[in-house]
Amino acid sequence: MERLYRGISELVTCRGGVRRGAAMREVGVIEDGAFLVRDGRIAAVGKREDLEKGYRGEAFDCGNRLVTPGFVDSHTHLVFGGERAEEFSWRLRGDSYLSIMERGGGIVNTVDATRAASEEALEAQAKKHLVHMLAMGVTTCEIKSGYGLDTQTELKQLSVVRRLRTSQKTRLVPTFMGAHAVPRGMRSEEYIDYCLAESLPAAAKSGLCEFADIFVERGAFSLDEARRYLSRAKELGLRTKVHADEMTPLGGAGLAVEAGACSADHLLQVSDRDIGALARSSTVATVLPLTAFCLGEEYAPARKLIDGGAIVAAASDFNPGSCCTYSVPLLVALCCIYMKLSVEETISALTINGAAACGREALVGSIEVGKRADFLIFDCKELKCLPYYTGINLVKSVFIEGEKVYGEAV
Ligand code: NIG
Ligand code: FE
Repeated sequence: MERLYRGISELVTCRGGVRRGAAMREVGVIEDGAFLVRDGRIAAVGKREDLEKGYRGEAFDCGNRLVTPGFVDSHTHLVFGGERAEEFSWRLRGDSYLSIMERGGGIVNTVDATRAASEEALEAQAKKHLVHMLAMGVTTCEIKSGYGLDTQTELKQLSVVRRLRTSQKTRLVPTFMGAHAVPRGMRSEEYIDYCLAESLPAAAKSGLCEFADIFVERGAFSLDEARRYLSRAKELGLRTKVHADEMTPLGGAGLAVEAGACSADHLLQVSDRDIGALARSSTVATVLPLTAFCLGEEYAPARKLIDGGAIVAAASDFNPGSCCTYSVPLLVALCCIYMKLSVEETISALTINGAAACGREALVGSIEVGKRADFLIFDCKELKCLPYYTGINLVKSVFIEGEKVYGEAV
């Protein structure tokens, strides 16, 4: 099955691989572009006139619109039970995220609700979110466990991700995050010992996850605990990620680099030294500005990270506590308006670099020969319209592997 897509005012290819630093500004735009999809993969990319020459097959007119690669949301906590709207209202009154956690609220409340929920109920709730995300152009989504804090419930969450992989079109990347919070009545060292001996090996053995992640934070896990957890994860054949320097500058980003983690995420409080370490490494620096926005915190120094030469990705961090949103239009607006990224840098962060942050850069994240044909057609002509129509979803249709999975016939 072969089809030529044409009628593309700007074809944003993001070709040429993962980008760091100044290269994030280059997104490989082809004006009046076209591309050929064969059996779900990109078979040719170029100017319309070149691709049309001698082509007799089926063609699809995109209506003189902007086309980009599908978006990759490389950091979410999308499978969970219940909700925490009440905590949000306390935060609006002035309580901080950490003070709610210290009072015995926060993540552990979602743990109770997730333990109590059936796989079917968790799947039904998660499905709704994936459908909304797809409509905003998210074709690949990483999902973490971390609301079980015991082997059984962590595996239940990961099984839900496996179910979603078959029932939904979105490509999903599963991550074990047993070290998300310290369960009630336990000390952090005690719980890390449990993760190392039980839940982490069980998760690795189950084949239900590719990555392991840990929350390095005051009131969660220390650098030493994280070092042990990450090295055990590696021994067990998992790739790693770190929630680093979100509220307290503990040095999680430096540890992520030292451990060869695939990504270091959050980074609101990252030190200049660790910005340098990230810039010299292939660990992706993932910024999550929706979380900073929802918490009313300062944004991560994304500008400094890019100027320093780091590989920067942007993701939602969707979760029921600190950031109950996965709005891509809002994410784009925050990257551009508050973190001072150009729209090109923002798109690199949401496509090819997001793919690198969850180990999918060889498969998706760009429109170039050999990649899966995951792409978006927008109801506008130019990339610069995305932040300009602030907070508005301009996605018109979404394709995964060459199949239209959302939107109108253009
Ligand atoms: O990435 N930082 C830790 N974990 C989440 C919050 C999870 C929650 O509050 O439920 C985050 O912000
Ligand atoms: Fe997170």
